[in-house]
Formats: sequence, structure tokens, C-alpha cells
Amino acid sequence: MSRAESHPIKARKVNFDLSNSPAHWLPDDVFSSHLVNGINLLLPAGELWFCRVYNKALPHVTDPQLKEDVIGFIRQEGIHAQAHRRGEAWLRDQGYDVDKFRRRIDWLFEILLGEKPLGLSFLKNTLLEKQWLVLRVGIIAAIEHFTGLLGDWCMNSDSWDKGDPVVADLFRWHLAEEVEHRTVAFDLYEHMCQSKPGFYLSRQAVMALVFPIFVYVITEGGRSLAGQDSDPAGQKIAQQNLLRQLIQIERTGRRNGNVPTVSFVLERTLRWVSPWFHPISEGDTEQALAYIARSPAATAGASAS
Ligand SMILES: [Fe+2]
Ligand SMILES: [Fe+2]
Repeated sequence: MSRAESHPIKARKVNFDLSNSPAHWLPDDVFSSHLVNGINLLLPAGELWFCRVYNKALPHVTDPQLKEDVIGFIRQEGIHAQAHRRGEAWLRDQGYDVDKFRRRIDWLFEILLGEKPLGLSFLKNTLLEKQWLVLRVGIIAAIEHFTGLLGDWCMNSDSWDKGDPVVADLFRWHLAEEVEHRTVAFDLYEHMCQSKPGFYLSRQAVMALVFPIFVYVITEGGRSLAGQDSDPAGQKIAQQNLLRQLIQIERTGRRNGNVPTVSFVLERTLRWVSPWFHPISEGDTEQALAYIARSPAATAGASAS
């Protein structure tokens, strides 16, 4: 049985007007602005890949409640991808080249993690095809651990109040829905694994793979944008290696709260190691729904539909 809280996960229309929002949307914090903006370049390809994998997984779901949750998840992630595609266009309109980084992300999700990884078609109609599907469901569960913990961080932070309200709402609305559907990917992965010990061991292996890639990709997105700024702050960020970036994330998070600290992310990731871990305890659904109810973009979307 699904352990998701018993409320229907539904897609919501949203309406954002980013035309007056600056790229440096967090005052006096170019670093955090770009780190968050870079997520716009990553999400459309990533979340559409979630949808493709989950559509393949749906016929394997025998639990009716979980099936409903997975369908709701697919619909929410589809709208998230659309919203961040607009975020990507907003950056392009301000002169940023978003395509170079996007090509790397498209390769990751469409070629490396696609139906035929690296073009290999030997998986078709073999046991390996099912295993490849389960592995990708596991990768999504690990990624959703991060979107859920970042959502919980965001729901309990007011640091973005001082930033541009439209950009802040774009990420807050999205992260609130990540908290809302935080159990679905984990439950689906457990459902598709054949044994409890196998599920435990494979989810640890998948996290060991996903964690460094997730950290690298998030920081690279910010770096790719910062390097296009002509001011010294942007150039300084672009020249940082991964370790220097992680130190800056830690320092920035402690100083102004505009990004979660690395120590927070590490502490919350270590919880995944417990055999009793379940994402239901990693956020507050009522708190997330309360944000969605007052989100300007979600309110505008609801009244337009
Ligand atoms: Fe999402
Ligand atoms: Fe999600």
C-alpha cells in the first residue's frame, strides 16, 4: 500500500509574469541568484524525463492508490517543466546563453538515461529492460529526496521575501508541490523492487550515484550563468571549482539564508541511510498546501481556469 497521505495529488494551473524580474533577483547576492536560476535550465528536461519513465512504470503498478498518486505526480511534474521552460526563456531574454548548459542536460536525460542508453537497443524485450526501468525509478526517488528536502527548507525560510516576488513564487510554488508529492517516488520505487532487502540495498547504491551528480549539476548550472556576467562577482563565481562553490554555499546559507547550507543537505541526506527512512516525515503537507493557497501564481492560475 502507498504510505502517501490521503489527499489527491492534482496538477494546478499557474500564471507567472517574469517580464519585470531581474536575473539578480536576490538583492546583493549574485551567487545565490544564479545558483537558483540555474535550476531553470535543469528542470524542464529532468521533469519531462520523470514523466516518460513514470508512464512506462504505470502498467507495473498494482496498488490503485499508488497508481492515482503516480498519475497526479506525472501531471504536476509536467506543469513544473512548463513553468521552468518559461524561466529559461526569461533568462534568454536577458541575454544569457542557456543552450550550452541545456545541451549537456538534454544529453544526460535523453541519451544517457533514455530508453536506449547511449543508443544501445539490446534492452528491448529482455529482463534487462525491466531492470533498467526500476533503476531509473530509483534514480527519480533519490532526486525527489532532494526536491523534498529543499522544499521543506523553503517552506520554513523567509529569506526570499526580500527578493523579486515573481521569481520567489515560481520556486516556492514548485517546492511546495514537491513537499506535497514527496512520498510518491519512494513508494513507487519500493513497489517495483522485489524484496525489502533488495530495495534497501539498491536505494543506498542509487543515492551514492545520484548525490555527487546532483551536487555537480546544480552548481554547474549556476556557474554557467555567472560566467556570463561581466561584473567581477560573476567572474569570480565562474572560476570557482566545485569545492570552492560548496564552501561558498555553506557560507552564504549561514550568512543570509538565501540558499540551504551544505551541512543541512548532508544531514538530511544521511537520513536516507536508515532502513526505516520514509519521506513522509521529511516535510509538512499542510504547510505546503497553505503556501499553494496563497501563491500569487497558483491563485491567478486557479481564477483563470
Ligand atoms: Fe517538480
Ligand atoms: Fe517532484
